[in-house]
Amino acid sequence: MAEYVVEFGKDGRPVEPDGRLDAPAFHRNHQAIWTVLEKFLKRKSGDVVEVGSGTGQHVVDFARHTPEITWWPSDLNEQHLKSIEAWRAHAALVNVRPPLRIDLSDPAWCPEMSSSSGPTNLLAVFCANVIHIAPWRVTEGLFGGAGRYLRADGRLFLYGPFKRGGKHTAISNAVFDSSLRERDPEWGVRDIEDLEKLAAGVGLGLREIAKMPANNLTLVFGR
Ligand SMILES: C[S@@+](CC[C@H](N)C(=O)[O-])C[C@H]1O[C@@H](n2cnc3c(N)ncnc32)[C@H](O)[C@@H]1O
Repeated sequence: MAEYVVEFGKDGRPVEPDGRLDAPAFHRNHQAIWTVLEKFLKRKSGDVVEVGSGTGQHVVDFARHTPEITWWPSDLNEQHLKSIEAWRAHAALVNVRPPLRIDLSDPAWCPEMSSSSGPTNLLAVFCANVIHIAPWRVTEGLFGGAGRYLRADGRLFLYGPFKRGGKHTAISNAVFDSSLRERDPEWGVRDIEDLEKLAAGVGLGLREIAKMPANNLTLVFGR
């Protein structure tokens, strides 16, 4: 069964003295996710925002492959923001910006999105393992912001477990879904059809469904 982590650093795993947290799932999924992102990001430049970055490990890893792209990690949890900043300092990559405090339940995301100090005209938005561990309004805010901030050829990449046509794609996902809903009735594995409806409302359409290991998918939305 998939595991859910609301707050890294509270599971007894060692925390580096500088605040860097480690997510076991990162080591299992980052290569497969990069294979999907790479097809679109290779040889492109611009700003990419990661929402719900957690530890900050994905952004640092992806930024190493893409010196022409400026990466903007974000989260709303204070310990995660510290970990993201610590991974950024540790990696010393010029194309990773300090983390933004983005709460996705607000479709405006954060004040920096509309100021000259923040990212603009986004090439992509990346979101991994967030929307099933949050109320539906977080998904609404994710799509609301993506519809507002993505440039004409931009993409929203959404990684995680999903239902298709109202059905789970694996028994392990159904068990995971029940455990999420038991923990919080507002959480749960989302259905691709519901996401497509939300996307259509903000001018986005589903462009690709990429199969990933462990019954996960990466959904790619564009204008
Ligand atoms: C399971 S973790 C995934 C972290 C990271 N994306 C990964 O795949 O390792 C979910 C993340 O979503 C963040 N999150 C939860 N609610 C959020 C919200 N309303 N806005 C932005 N991030 C949120 C949490 O703080 C946490 O870092």
